[in-house]
Amino acid sequence: MVYLENLINIVNTLFLKRGKMFDIVTVGSALVDVFVNTELGEIKKDGKKLIAYPVGSKISVKSIKFLIGGGGTNTAVSFSRLGFNTGYLGKIGNDKNGEEILDLLKKEGINFVGVRGGTTGYSVILDSKEHNRTVLTHKGASDELKYGELSLKKLKTKWFYFSSMLNDSLITQKNLIKLAAWSDVKIAFNPSMYQIKKDITSVKNILKKTDILILNKEEATLLVKKRHIEDLLECARLLGPKIVCITDGRRNTYAYNGFLMYTLKPHDIKIKERTGAGDAFASGFVAGFIKKDNLEFALQMGLANAESVVKYFGSKNKLLKWKEALKKIEKNPGKITKKEL
Ligand SMILES: Nc1ncnc2c1ncn2[C@@H]1O[C@H](COP(=O)(O)OP(=O)(O)OP(=O)(O)O)[C@@H](O)[C@H]1O
Ligand SMILES: [Mg+2]
Repeated sequence: MVYLENLINIVNTLFLKRGKMFDIVTVGSALVDVFVNTELGEIKKDGKKLIAYPVGSKISVKSIKFLIGGGGTNTAVSFSRLGFNTGYLGKIGNDKNGEEILDLLKKEGINFVGVRGGTTGYSVILDSKEHNRTVLTHKGASDELKYGELSLKKLKTKWFYFSSMLNDSLITQKNLIKLAAWSDVKIAFNPSMYQIKKDITSVKNILKKTDILILNKEEATLLVKKRHIEDLLECARLLGPKIVCITDGRRNTYAYNGFLMYTLKPHDIKIKERTGAGDAFASGFVAGFIKKDNLEFALQMGLANAESVVKYFGSKNKLLKWKEALKKIEKNPGKITKKEL
């Protein structure tokens, strides 16, 4: 059985060595983000902040906007703007939304290497008066990507960037990771809270093969069940990744390579809308690391990209071009300290 699996992997590896070579292929969702601005204030209950809707009420919505989102396409646009030859792998709905997603990828110079089918999913983003939000997601086609549907010969790449996937798409992700490990393709991974909660065993298996892991602090806490940042970084790294990066909204961001822990202090900025902040940071961080092999530079690139996105509306607005990012880093770098762990 093992021999057969090895043989299949060798044959598949041959596929990965032919055709066009990408710098990076992002694997993840392609959705429509629906921004619903309710102007409702937040309430506090049991120490938690809630956006609450009275049962039976009709609530007038101040504005509603539709934009293309999803971790797979957000990060593909990010890498492409930063100058990477980028492919996007995911399942795009066989509908009008799917057509618009394809148009966007084309406009951004991204090669679509996935499949069409099913119905495009939605994220409904409910904004509070205080600009916090609750997100309701139905991933639709994005979670229906089957490994058998892929055209492996299109997937010749130096790096894979995996964002969160579930159901059929998670099985596909696991198979791609096996293939990547066989073919010496490097892996960056940014799982979601939901994915860690639903299938921590799969996440841990993926981490054994991961080069760069990016998480927010809540996700890291759920993954390794520790509280202090040093423990979070060390325990997450023991699961396999060579580099671990932990973000925490407007609080400090950390990166760890097994020797040094880097702490980055974000600037105190006024944010407009924070959807896509995590994707912008993680993709900027990975792009910076791939280009310069330097964690301080990677942190600055993640920060410049994320801070640009949270100042504008929508998850891709305004992801930076490489030169724009360099200018921002030069003009106003984040403060970084380092210590041995
Ligand atoms: N309120 C904020 N003020 C300033 N910067 C922010 C804020 N929120 C996010 N950022 C920037 O975006 C980065 C990523 O944010 P965060 O830690 O919230 O990621 P995330 O929880 O993965 O987000 P997402 O929900 O988009 O997946 C932060 O490290 C920071 O640079
Ligand atoms: Mg995130």
